[in-house]
Amino acid sequence: SEGLAIFTSGGDSAGMNPAVKCAADYAAMRGYKPWLVYDGLRGLIDDKIVESTPQLLSGILHRGGTFLRSSRSQRFFDIQYRRQAFENLERRGIKKLIVIGGDGSFRALNQFYSDFGVPFAGIPATIDNDIAGTDYCLGVDTALNIIRQSVDSIRDTATSFSRAFVIEVMGRHCGYLAMVSALACGAELCLTTEIPYDLEKIGAKLKHEIKHEGRDHIIAIVAEGTKMAEYTTRYINDAIGMEARLTVLGHVQRGGSPTVHDRIMAYKFAVAAVDSLVAGQTNSIMVYRDGTFGNLPIHTVVDSKYQIDPAIMKLCGPLCA
Ligand code: F6P
Repeated sequence: SEGLAIFTSGGDSAGMNPAVKCAADYAAMRGYKPWLVYDGLRGLIDDKIVESTPQLLSGILHRGGTFLRSSRSQRFFDIQYRRQAFENLERRGIKKLIVIGGDGSFRALNQFYSDFGVPFAGIPATIDNDIAGTDYCLGVDTALNIIRQSVDSIRDTATSFSRAFVIEVMGRHCGYLAMVSALACGAELCLTTEIPYDLEKIGAKLKHEIKHEGRDHIIAIVAEGTKMAEYTTRYINDAIGMEARLTVLGHVQRGGSPTVHDRIMAYKFAVAAVDSLVAGQTNSIMVYRDGTFGNLPIHTVVDSKYQIDPAIMKLCGPLCA
């Protein structure tokens, strides 16, 4: 039967493992012979491709990250290496690909499709939730729960010591993690690149609350893309006058056992990806929009900018000015 290879690419995120497992199982049900590519695009070039077995897929569901490992490959930009990758697939009769990753990986695969005509289906997976056309990317719920847990524990020490904490969260250029975690954790302040902010105005409001309303601690969530975390910490300390500390959450946010939500979303994305290949689609990205799974042609996904839910933006308004 026709070979179908599955791999993960770009920044890892929780939910990748359940997606790989379900894609392999379901592909076999639909008559494909499933293969696994280790090390992402690099492994495609370097021939780290093995036939999927139940043993390889067992005991991985609950683990964060990707057991297939991932990479960001420069060599894949070079046709000579893409040809090498194609020959590795051809030798094994692999005719279809499922890539689990972000838009950089989707673009690379689309180039590969233009070169050699190997159809692929993309599953959006990144904690940044920055892929256009889909409301949800695998790993976001797990990352948000890790952030929520971290901010809750920081609040314990903040309230005990009457301090302010600035917490920098990931998201690259996207403020989604910052906004949603700020709302879920009841932050007083949230800075992102998507919503204009006025530190002076928030500062005056907080100072008033400290002086007249008994405010004794502050939680500020700052998106890494703003590069404002250190400035905000100094601002709260010096201009607002509350002792402030900075915590950069960093890569803790990218690990952790996938939540129930991420596991189930992984299965649904994986089924959609296999079905799209069965239906003869050649280069589409799976999307989840307004509660429904579907897929979009790659160009509509990689050529447009992700827009954060306006309802979330509206709720964050008071945390910015
Ligand atoms: O894209 C996921 C992400 O974790 C971003 O939020 C962050 O900016 C970046 O990757 C960090 O990259 P690296 O893991 O290469 O340091």
